[in-house]
Amino acid sequence: MRSEAELLGLALALGADTVGTLTARERALLARAAPVTQSRVREVREQLRAGEDPLGEALCALRTVSERRARGAVYTPRVIVEAMTAWAAERPAARIVDPGVGSGRFLLAAARAFPEAELVGIDTDPFACLLVRAGLAVHGAGSRARVVLGDFRRAALAPRGAPTLFLGNPPYVRHHALSASDKAWFVTTARAAGLRASALAGLHAHFFLATSCHARPGDFGAFVTAAEWLDVNYGALVRELFLERLGGGALFLVEPRARPFADADTTAVVACFCVGERPQTLRFGTVADGAELGRLAGGRAVARARFEASSRWTGLTRRAAARPAGHVELGELFAVHRGQVTGDNATWVEREVANLPERVRFPAVTRAKELFAAVPVLAELAGLRRVIDLPADLDVLSASERRRVEVFLRAARGRGVHLGFIAQHRKAWWSVGLHAPAPLLATYMARRPPAFVRNPRGARHLNIAHGLYPREPLDDAVLDAVARYLNTNASLSGGRTYSGGLTKFEPREMQRLLVPGLELLRDAAREQGRGAVARRAAR
Ligand SMILES: C[S@@+](CC[C@H](N)C(=O)[O-])C[C@H]1O[C@@H](n2cnc3c(N)ncnc32)[C@H](O)[C@@H]1O
Repeated sequence: MRSEAELLGLALALGADTVGTLTARERALLARAAPVTQSRVREVREQLRAGEDPLGEALCALRTVSERRARGAVYTPRVIVEAMTAWAAERPAARIVDPGVGSGRFLLAAARAFPEAELVGIDTDPFACLLVRAGLAVHGAGSRARVVLGDFRRAALAPRGAPTLFLGNPPYVRHHALSASDKAWFVTTARAAGLRASALAGLHAHFFLATSCHARPGDFGAFVTAAEWLDVNYGALVRELFLERLGGGALFLVEPRARPFADADTTAVVACFCVGERPQTLRFGTVADGAELGRLAGGRAVARARFEASSRWTGLTRRAAARPAGHVELGELFAVHRGQVTGDNATWVEREVANLPERVRFPAVTRAKELFAAVPVLAELAGLRRVIDLPADLDVLSASERRRVEVFLRAARGRGVHLGFIAQHRKAWWSVGLHAPAPLLATYMARRPPAFVRNPRGARHLNIAHGLYPREPLDDAVLDAVARYLNTNASLSGGRTYSGGLTKFEPREMQRLLVPGLELLRDAAREQGRGAVARRAAR
């Protein structure tokens, strides 16, 4: 499709103006429609009948990614639409509501799967509303459909007395882009329902709340969204709604490598719910690749109590790893701490040798790649940048040191560094407060397993690395054995996966990695020592 006028011409030719009553905004849009050929109309009609979405695809292509993002308009791939519709079609529904209907991918699939049901599509985008009207006309479903140009949160959806199915992909718009009145609606509506809402919640959370207000016992639904609400703080409200008011029964996590959405690099989750039910076990499945996307089945049965007790749900998809004999959690042997945040690396991480006393310049790991390159031992400090860590009490400096430091701090103050959030929350804004050197350092965020690196020269580390601090003194050979074991055995499975397969290990998640207990580590260290002696003797 070359232009909006042409797309509008197609919608008109397919019968967009025959479905329901158009709003003034939709009529104004249709007034811009350009003529289209009959053969083109025939072709698009055939595609729509075959379950394709040529109109929606054309609309997406005519808009920039940022225009689509601002509306939260990432349309759902057919394979997910069909899988969710098939899941839903196992129960009867008198009405289907697609909140944020877009071009109608779900609503048209539901029109085919529920040939008698009333169809309601709601969207704030008048162009999308016209396309869904055209699709409904092609499907011969116009007379049982209602297309509402408006906000789902405020839609009038009178209870039907027979089950309503809520089916769709709520818009994902981050809270920064939501208006004050949107946020006020969220907080007051949640409060009225006896729930606490976070102002950090995105629009998809608003849709869950609105659904719980519209729905009645007996209604059911399936929503696909970005998966982050499963784990983040603002998601607490969505988790509670899902578990309690919506009667959540199954979750299917679509892993990033399955690439659920072509132009949004994200982990998705399909949440299935039956309002009024309270299952004692929920199904939690993972969809690892595109081929598995087609069916929402299987998954683990996870006790409701585990969902209630956990503030992060992604981990519930995993079976607790069987613990080999003699192994313990890393946290039994080490405390894991994230490195220090400077608040302004441009100031506190030296780009060149500063005219500052040597004793306030600390060689530090400031980039994860320094650790990846060093595995298994960070043998040299020479290649590292220095972090400036001044004492909170500057009086401990000599007069000449103090003069140099004052020059440096005056320049930093001139750039407003003292006003930064982190700086203001430190004991003294100029004192970064590096942690003590950790004998073992680890990366924690990458598309590969963490790298564990021995640190015998005592490099410090910033917050791109974790430091592993032994809970009791361990000799070097045992530390080497731990690093060797983790570098060979640690996988991505204990961390949390973000967009595009990036996996992150919070300190506590890293502490849960399994390692051989002290006895086994000492055996391994002795074994390694004997091997080294034998190799030297053989040379
Ligand atoms: C993620 S898209 C889903 C579109 C379609 N259901 C699909 O799955 O392909 C979300 C849709 O919600 C619409 N939307 C955004 N804010 C809305 C609101 N407050 N009320 C109703 N729809 C809204 C957007 O215009 C967009 O079409």
